[in-house]
Amino acid sequence: MTPTTNKALLQWVAEAKKMCTPDRVCWCDGSKTEYERLLEEMVAGGHAERLDPKRWPGCYLFRSDPSDVARAEERTFICPKTREDAGPSNNWMDPAEMKALMRKSYAGCMKGRTMYVIPYSMGPIGSPIANIGVEITDSPYVVVNMEIMTRVGTKVLDTLGDSPNFVRALHSVGAPLQPGQKDVPWPCNPDVQQKFITHFPETREIWSYGSGYGGNALLGKKCHALRIASVQARDEGWLAEHMLIVKLTSPKGKVIYVAAAFPSQCGKTNFAMMEPTLPGWKVETIGDDICWMKRRPDGRWHAINPEAGFFGVAPGTSMKSNPNAMRTVNRNTIFTNCVHTPDNGVWWEDMTDTPPASGIDWKGKEWTPDSGTKGAHPNARFTAPASQCPVVAPEWEDPAGVPISAILFGGRRASVIPLVTEALNWQHGVFLGSIMGSEMTAAAFGTVGTLRRDPMAMLPFCGYHMGDYLNHWLKVGKASETAKLPRIYYVNWFRKTADGKWLWPGFGENSRVLKWIFERVTGEGKAVETPIGNMPTPDAMDLGGLDMSHEEVEELLSVDRPAWEKEIPSIREHYAKFGDRLPKDLSAELARLEARLKA
Ligand code: GTP
Ligand code: SPV
Ligand code: MN
Repeated sequence: MTPTTNKALLQWVAEAKKMCTPDRVCWCDGSKTEYERLLEEMVAGGHAERLDPKRWPGCYLFRSDPSDVARAEERTFICPKTREDAGPSNNWMDPAEMKALMRKSYAGCMKGRTMYVIPYSMGPIGSPIANIGVEITDSPYVVVNMEIMTRVGTKVLDTLGDSPNFVRALHSVGAPLQPGQKDVPWPCNPDVQQKFITHFPETREIWSYGSGYGGNALLGKKCHALRIASVQARDEGWLAEHMLIVKLTSPKGKVIYVAAAFPSQCGKTNFAMMEPTLPGWKVETIGDDICWMKRRPDGRWHAINPEAGFFGVAPGTSMKSNPNAMRTVNRNTIFTNCVHTPDNGVWWEDMTDTPPASGIDWKGKEWTPDSGTKGAHPNARFTAPASQCPVVAPEWEDPAGVPISAILFGGRRASVIPLVTEALNWQHGVFLGSIMGSEMTAAAFGTVGTLRRDPMAMLPFCGYHMGDYLNHWLKVGKASETAKLPRIYYVNWFRKTADGKWLWPGFGENSRVLKWIFERVTGEGKAVETPIGNMPTPDAMDLGGLDMSHEEVEELLSVDRPAWEKEIPSIREHYAKFGDRLPKDLSAELARLEARLKA
């Protein structure tokens, strides 16, 4: 019995079945019973451990294959008809060729497995901003994660009705089973060259093969809500961005909403759940990773979080750094690649001051703190329902979204970039977003620590030509009333001292920056104009009670002119990659920056 009569959907599922030859097909209803049954089956099959039901009720631990621990950007493709439309920052192949190649991999790939059909909604079901997709996968791990991260089930099918307009997301771990063959704990194709994470933006299709991890496999997240949605947003005049969303309430009870784009592993989840150190200020979570923003009839830009859960970085999360995340993940949470402790719990680096005396590391080996290796993988993750977050804003599921007053851009920069700079106007803000850089992290395969320019934190997630994307941002500004546009800020929590220590305490202390932004947005905050933008006057930022010297504050809040002058050639090199699709307004902004630095 199929739970739908949608012809387009039935036909697509039949095609996938014919190509992948699963042993059986299961339509997911998104129920708690289904979720629990799948997890219990995975425990019985040796794919997962059920954690201590007293300390960790409803929690499970998975360990991935060592080859399958992060997003595979080298194996991620954007396949519109022409290479030009994918642009210089994306891998591209002709869509027909790519499909022919991938069909060979998909042929018989689900043998011995169940094919799950997951109807999901990105955004509250039925919201005018929401968007429906269907993921087909042979991974029950993907099913249970999707059931936390998105809204899954029969209600989605009812909302879709007979419409053929849904994102088609096909996924296989690429590990067929021969009759009698025993499954491995984490099935995938361990050969990196055999993995594909492919997008066909023109037909709103995603084909993913060979990986079971995170953004490679939970296709509603980066593949749909960013790469495909960015193309929809371009076509329809809205924004699909790699941003957290927070509600900020002042001691007087005034509320603003802020969105912030930081690259992977650069602090979105932490910022989204922040406990402000400034008395009287309150931060509440709307979303921690993705933001869809549309202009509403009031002329303002309203944002929704299209997700329903958090797929957060575990290492570094503690009662000190992010207590609200700790309170979110203490039940009904799926952990991947953490340490399994002797008392049947999980642990990761810096979760507690004292590590457990021993445990099983993410590779499944006996581990002690003296092993000389990390117990949890640096990209170990938790998957937890957003509704469990103690500081989730009551309106986090409002189908109308929340009006955004400020947008923050920021990355990991040990030097050059000050703690906070305000853009002079929208176009200058787009310029600041476009030159954003960050030292790379473990969220993707690559060289950790090297600087790469990552416009709006979207470099790995933009589904079309990055030059056109920047132009789209400029167009958004031109189509809006200036007073109704969010103000733009460039922040950096990651400055380091000469001996490699953090110059800024970060985390809850970032509320000091938020307070200044709040005051600027509401018209009270004081700023001075500098060559790189507006910066807080020395007395404009509330730094009371911080254990920082005058020199340190000075270093964080001043313009390092020689360092900025050295940035110019690297920005020019970055811009050159976009060729004639680089908006002229942005090269003009670069020339203006250069002139202001020289003046
Ligand atoms: P993705 O889920 O990959 O998109 O990451 P994210 O942007 O949500 O990053 P997350 O909040 O998980 O933080 C990643 C790492 O940055 C963690 O190790 C945090 O402890 C660290 N971090 C977050 N905020 C700060 C900060 O203000 N200062 C410093 N020094 N580190 C921070
Ligand atoms: C990121 O890398 O930005 C993530 C994790 O949020 S993943 O879902 O794997 O993309
Ligand atoms: Mn992310």
